[in-house]
Amino acid sequence: SAAEKGGYDYFMLKEIAEQPKAVADTLLGRIDITGRLTLDEVRIPGSVLREVDKIVIVACGTAFHAGMIAKYAIEHWTRIPCETELASEFRYRDPILGPRTLVVAISQSGETMDTLMALRHAREQGAKVLAICNTNGSTIPRESDAVLYTHAGPEVAVASTKAFLTQLVACYLVALYLGQVRGTKWGDEIDTVIRELSEISTQVGEVLGTMEPVRELARSLAQKNTVLFLGRHVGYPVALEGALKLKELAYMHAEGFAAGELKHGPIALIEDDMPVVVVVPSPRGRSVLHDKIVSNIQEIRARGARTIVIAEEGDETVAPYADHLIRIPATPTLLQPLVATVPLQVFACELATARGNEVDQPRNLAKSVTVE
Ligand code: AGP
Repeated sequence: SAAEKGGYDYFMLKEIAEQPKAVADTLLGRIDITGRLTLDEVRIPGSVLREVDKIVIVACGTAFHAGMIAKYAIEHWTRIPCETELASEFRYRDPILGPRTLVVAISQSGETMDTLMALRHAREQGAKVLAICNTNGSTIPRESDAVLYTHAGPEVAVASTKAFLTQLVACYLVALYLGQVRGTKWGDEIDTVIRELSEISTQVGEVLGTMEPVRELARSLAQKNTVLFLGRHVGYPVALEGALKLKELAYMHAEGFAAGELKHGPIALIEDDMPVVVVVPSPRGRSVLHDKIVSNIQEIRARGARTIVIAEEGDETVAPYADHLIRIPATPTLLQPLVATVPLQVFACELATARGNEVDQPRNLAKSVTVE
């Protein structure tokens, strides 16, 4: 009913709008006033966490994209080798697991069969499993050694939005917590990140307040057949997520690429006036990557692409090459997906509406996939 949707036309719109609160709720009570993390619910003893020599993240779909981003954060902040794998592929390739492996299973519903089977396999091999989940008491957390709940509140729309943002926050917390427990790389950078993580909720709200031009752009592209998404570093999984949203909701051909791969093939796809969304990393910090992405934008534009550029406030270098410029607030490099994904959710939702599609219940899809 309309009341259940809180006055919005679709659950998806309501859930997109709830993201600032959802993100704040994921952090609630988990950072103390001195800036240290208190993840008491992670019931895996510090002595075990200190011995972990490999982390494997398993998940599907949108949760997998969160896991891809987590890999960047975990390796950077903990120096523990980390791999992220599609849950449906994991157990069939005889992965190397043992008592010093920490498996992180990410799932909104906690009922995804592929993810459940992956974690069962991991536990059979002696690995410890930490679940990141949104649904209290669901199967995946029940079968795990520990769980960090995302507290996003129920997500009804099939297309995941607030669950994704809160999965990211939970992943950052796990990465930072491991750094804290193991004493690796705990310094100014981490303190800054924790502070900026606390401000992210406000920044997500700011992005939501500036989405009208994005909706307008989406409506103008309703007749297109293909949209490409490019990103680099943590912007690469964001590009994949933008493409997945568009497939699910608008039933359009959409693909996400690592921008550095363009020249190895995908650039051949570019046609006149083809919309290409580019997620631009911050010009601070990883400035080398920023410059490379700016060249990518020039290359695709020279071949006729219509460039839709998502870039940080104050990043002026991209402006001359952007047919459409979407601004996001400045964040630390690793946290950018929390703000960069939001315009892509809005874009897909509006395009789907413009194409007359059922937003909350896309064809052929179920909210949770309980078969392998
Ligand atoms: C996201 O929009 C999807 N509908 C889908 O990819 C989903 O993220 C995936 O099926 C995993 O679900 P889970 O988080 O409940 O395990």
